[in-house]
Amino acid sequence: MHPLDDWRITTEPFYAQQANEVTLFEAAYAARLPVMVKGPTGCGKSRFVEYMAHKLGRPLVTVACNEDMTAADLVGRFLLEPTGTRWQDGPLTVAARHGAICYLDEVVEARQDTTVVIHPLTDHRRTLPLDKKGELVRAHADFQIVISYNPGYQSLMKDLKTSTRQRFAALDFDYPAAELEAQIVTRETGLPLAMSAALVEVAAAARRLKGHGLEEGISTRLLVYAAQLIGQGIAPREAARMAMVRPITDDADMRDTLDHTIEAVLP
Ligand SMILES: Nc1ncnc2c1ncn2[C@@H]1O[C@H](COP(=O)(O)OP(=O)(O)OP(=O)(O)O)[C@@H](O)[C@H]1O
Ligand SMILES: [Mg+2]
Repeated sequence: MHPLDDWRITTEPFYAQQANEVTLFEAAYAARLPVMVKGPTGCGKSRFVEYMAHKLGRPLVTVACNEDMTAADLVGRFLLEPTGTRWQDGPLTVAARHGAICYLDEVVEARQDTTVVIHPLTDHRRTLPLDKKGELVRAHADFQIVISYNPGYQSLMKDLKTSTRQRFAALDFDYPAAELEAQIVTRETGLPLAMSAALVEVAAAARRLKGHGLEEGISTRLLVYAAQLIGQGIAPREAARMAMVRPITDDADMRDTLDHTIEAVLP
């Protein structure tokens, strides 16, 4: 078995293109440029990367970054075994050795001293030094690194170093345009298109409140949740409250405002 067989995406993920991001990503991949996908939570970044990995025929190694992650979690470590020690490649090393796309999700969550281990892989060197093991891994010709990033959520303490940021080409993502978003919700859940469009209308109203008492807009992901609840027989208004309003705010006034929108728009 090939070491990356587990990471192959065998069936094509559904992805509705928002603009020309597929072409742009293909060009970046052809040049083996590292790519950063930026955008609010639940707007399709991960789905896009999965779709691209499938389209390009590359396995996808995804790492969900967090602040407790160490460089060893990415590159690998020696494991103690009864017979001695054995080196185990981390996900980044596996991807680099065997030519996968390595997707570091929520990369700002990782500490900056962890993130710098990707530097030699993201410039002309395309190498990964395994200091503890005394090995220099040369990245496979097909290897590419992709990171995702939610702009606006990070504090000064949690941001990418300039020297990390400037190793990537970037694609901006946002919630899809209304008509497309309704089609996505319908395609994902089977909800009738008119009802999906109504959910999108509620989301649009909430997104206009971002920065005016709401920290974030209602994501496409939450619209899909609401549609799934409706599919389970929950009344649309109730589904929208549960999936689209309660998760995003605890503020009573804001909930009232959004609940009113729901009553105006949904049956
Ligand atoms: N363009 C799209 N095509 C198909 N599905 C989409 C699209 N955009 C959003 N979705 C739907 O929204 C859901 C959330 O998208 P995804 O998981 O890619 O978000 P994300 O941007 O990676 O969010 P996060 O930053 O929270 O990880 C998907 O599971 C899918 O149902
Ligand atoms: Mg994601």
